Amino acid sequence: MKIQFLGHSCFSIASGSYTLLIDPFLSASPVAAARAEEVSATHLFVTHGHHDHLGDALAIAARCRPVVYATVETARLFPDDLTVEPGQIGGFVAAPFGGVKWTAALHGSGVPGSLACGYLLTIEGKKIYHAGDTGLSTEMSLLAEENVDAALLPIGDRYTMGPADALRALKLIRPRLVVPMHYNTWPLIRQDAVRFAEAAVAAGTKAVVLQPGETLDL
Ligand code: NI
Ligand code: MN
Repeated sequence: MKIQFLGHSCFSIASGSYTLLIDPFLSASPVAAARAEEVSATHLFVTHGHHDHLGDALAIAARCRPVVYATVETARLFPDDLTVEPGQIGGFVAAPFGGVKWTAALHGSGVPGSLACGYLLTIEGKKIYHAGDTGLSTEMSLLAEENVDAALLPIGDRYTMGPADALRALKLIRPRLVVPMHYNTWPLIRQDAVRFAEAAVAAGTKAVVLQPGETLDL
C-alpha cells in the first residue's frame, strides 16, 4: 500500500481499489500538496471537527461519496444520503479493506457533545495508527499489543504532543515506524521533524519524514 502525506494531518492511503483519506484539510491549508477537487476517496475519516481536520471533508464527501467515519456527533455533520459509519472510542467495525477502530485522543472536538479521536486502521493485514490531535496519554500503551506497523503522530506542540512527548508515545505504542505530522503548517507549530526522526531512530524506532506530497510504501 502507499501512504501519501498531503500536509498537516492529511494522509491518503491507497490499497488495491480503495483510497482512504484522513483529515482532508486542503483548500485552506498553507502546506497542502493537493487541491480538494483533485483528491478522491472511497473511505473518508475525520478525527474531529476543528477546521484543520474537518477541512474539505463535506465537499469531498459530496463529490466522491465515500463511506464516512467519525465519532457520533461529528458524523451528524454529514448529510443523510451519504453512507456514514459513526463510532466511539474503543469501537471497531469491519471494512472491505480490513477494519477501523476508534482510538482515544486527548483533545477538543469542535463539535458540541462529540469526542476527538484517532484511528487504528487495519489494511492488507497491516495496522496504521493515525493519532489525530492528541496530547500524550497513557491510553496509548493499549496500542502496544496491536503491533502497529506505522504510527502517524502529531509533533507540533501547543495544541498536541510536541516532539519530546511524541518520543515518549513511541515507548508506549512501540510501532515499527513513525511518521510525524501536524507541524510547520503555521509558525505556532514549527518543529524540526528531522531532529525528531533522528531521536526516534536513536531510541529504536524507524522514522520517516514526509514532505507534503511525498509517499511511503508500506
Ligand atoms: Ni484540533
Ligand atoms: Mn489540529
